[in-house]
Parts: sequence; C-alpha cells; structure tokens
Amino acid sequence: EEGIESAKQDSTTRQAMGEAAALLRKGGIVAFPTETVYGLGADARSTAAVEAVFAAKGRPSDNPLIVHIAERSQLEELVTDIPPVALTLMDMYWPGPLTIVLPLRPNVLSTRVTAGLDTVGIRMPDHRVALALIKGADCPIAAPSANRSGRPSPTLASHVQEDLNGRIDGILDGGPAGVGLESTVVRVFSNGDIQVLRPGGITIEQLGKVKGANVIVVGGADEEAQTAISPGLMTGSAHVKTVDSEAPRSPGVKYTHYAPQGELSIVRGSSPQAVATSIKLLLDKASHVGTVTGLLAFEEHMPFYGLNPANVVISLGSIDTPAEAAHKLYTSLRLFDEMGVAYMLSEACPEEGLGEAIMNRLVKAAGGRIIDIE
Ligand code: TXA
Ligand code: MG
Repeated sequence: EEGIESAKQDSTTRQAMGEAAALLRKGGIVAFPTETVYGLGADARSTAAVEAVFAAKGRPSDNPLIVHIAERSQLEELVTDIPPVALTLMDMYWPGPLTIVLPLRPNVLSTRVTAGLDTVGIRMPDHRVALALIKGADCPIAAPSANRSGRPSPTLASHVQEDLNGRIDGILDGGPAGVGLESTVVRVFSNGDIQVLRPGGITIEQLGKVKGANVIVVGGADEEAQTAISPGLMTGSAHVKTVDSEAPRSPGVKYTHYAPQGELSIVRGSSPQAVATSIKLLLDKASHVGTVTGLLAFEEHMPFYGLNPANVVISLGSIDTPAEAAHKLYTSLRLFDEMGVAYMLSEACPEEGLGEAIMNRLVKAAGGRIIDIE
C-alpha cells in the first residue's frame, strides 16, 4: 500500500517537475523548493525572464540575484576564475547553503541578474527537486527568495502562494524547506580570503575549517549581528576577523528585510529570567491598552513567563538547537502577521553557529530595535 502511494507521489512530482522545467525553458518564472527557502527561478540568460522575477517580487533592480546550478561543469562557462579556496569550499559544502561570489564571465548571463556587477553569486542547492528542475531546464537558474520584497522568505509553498499568487507562472511544492534561512554568501579571493557578505546556513565555524583560509566577517555600523564573533572562533586552522566597513557587503543588505507587519523588538540580557520578567512587563503594558501581542521565546524559558504572557506565544524550540529556531523563524513571523499581532517581543540567542544567521535576520525583522536590559 505505502509503496504504491509513494510511487504515485513520485510520478506526480516527476510530472510537476517536467512541467516546471518546460515553463523555465520557455522563459517562464517558477517557484521551487530548496534546502534553505523557496526560490523564484528564471533562465539566467533571458533578460525578459529575469525582469519578470524582479517585477513579481517588487525587488529593486540594483540587488543582484543568485545563480543556481546542478553540476560543477556548469561553473566554467559562468565565471573567469575559480580561486583554490573556492574549490575547497565547493568540495566541502556543495551541494548546500553556500553562495560563492566569483568573477563573472561577460556575455553569458543577462546583465540584469548581476545588476551590472562584474561578479556573480553561485550556489548548488542541496535539494532533490531543485537539482532535478535545474537539470531539466538545462540552463543556469537565477533565483531570489520567492517572497514579495520586504516580506519574510518563504519556507512553505503556501507562503509563496500568499505573496506571489497570480504574479508567477507556477509553484513546485516540495514540502517545508529544511534550514529555514537563506544561504551564506561569501566572496573569495586568490590569497585565500573568504569574506562573509551574509551569514546563513553554513556557519562561520564551518568556513573556518577551510585550511589556510582567512575568514573575514564584514559588518558595518548597522549590522550589529555580524560584528559579534565569539572568541572561540579564533581557534582552528583559519583566522576569523571582523572588519567594520560599509562598502563591500552584499548589495541586498541595505534594504529593509523580513519585516513583519507589527512592531518587533528583541530583548537581550545575560539572565534569561530577568529577560522574561522585562518582556512580561512590556507585553502586559501593551495588552492593557488593547494591543494584540506576540512572544517568541526558547522552550527552556517558557516557565519564566507563566500563563498567557501574550496573545500569540511561539516557542523557537530549545536554546541548544538553533537549527530548530532557524527552521521556524520565518513561519513564526508570518503567523504573527496572520493573527494580526501589532506588538511582538523576541528573546535573543547566542551568536554562535546558526545563531549568527538567526540573530542577523531577527535584528533585520526588528528594524534594529534591541532592548538591552542591563
Ligand atoms: O538560500 C538562498 O540563498 C536563497 C535560495 C532561493 O537559494 N536565495 C536568496 O536570494 O536568498 P536573495 O536574492 O533573496 O538573496 C541574495 C543575496 C542578496 O543579499 C544579494 O545582494 C546577494 O545575495 N548577492 C547576489 N549576487 C551578489 C554579488 N555578485 N555580489 C555580492 N552579493 C550578491
Ligand atoms: Mg531574499
């Protein structure tokens, strides 16, 4: 019985995948699952298709798209130079949530993909459906996250539907995205430098495992989450350093991102109990004047809040398993919107491992509002 069911599902998936690949080959735009978030794909060689992606998302045209490939052999035609450290990164983390920015070979992609830059971000997603789709389309696939610009990235096909229904040619449903946060974006150099432009699914620790490499985390004044690197990271085969700079970050980081409709703030402090006490007070004050409230907190801290601290309470799972928080973050922000929550408070998590990317996205969703209670 079960065998028959899954065989049926497989053939449905294959048929849907074939249709989606055909749409891409004809210049259509199609949303598809990856291991990070859903992407909105287009033939990266077609200016019309790529422009349709920007239009559907309402994305500023100066923010370049990531190009997705299914096989290493697709790489040579897209870039002019692959530094040794890039090859090591690919061996270690492809397919996977790592986007590598490399020098673009002229005249192979629509110039709209890279917003006129002379570099291109490339990634090989670790997802069976995504890889099959890219192979079926038989071209490099430009794909940003499949959300309306400024909304949380989609981790379910229904999120894509909410944001882009009627604006795109199709959605390939592959169930929930695994990681739940976008890929890490790095720029690599021939001297072995790895510059982290956006933290994501591959952690700084994982990048630090590359022998002979220097990991440089780029953080500016408004990128607090990127500047805090724990001293523990300084060990191992690579050096990790943080530079304060405005210039070389991803073009995308200057835009407001992942903003829920209500007002979100992060409350931070060394004692979880003291954090909970402050959060409870603020939520009580808001609900006394009739505001619909929301709380994002880690499972271990729930007892500190007592009964019904907010109208909508969401657990991010254990503080010791940031993968769970990453997986749930965007769905939680969307749920707050759906429930009409106007005032939300979130606990912070340690900026280690995936916690780095979680805090980066949370700080953006909060528009930089952080309440330090000590
Ligand atoms: O996990 C992901 O990366 C998802 C899935 C669909 O692959 N995609 C995604 O794309 O998050 P998007 O467009 O939402 O974010 C791409 C980021 C932007 O911040 C953009 O500025 C940066 O990558 N980026 C793209 N090309 C770049 C380049 N040549 N140089 C620097 N940054 C680049
Ligand atoms: Mg995005």
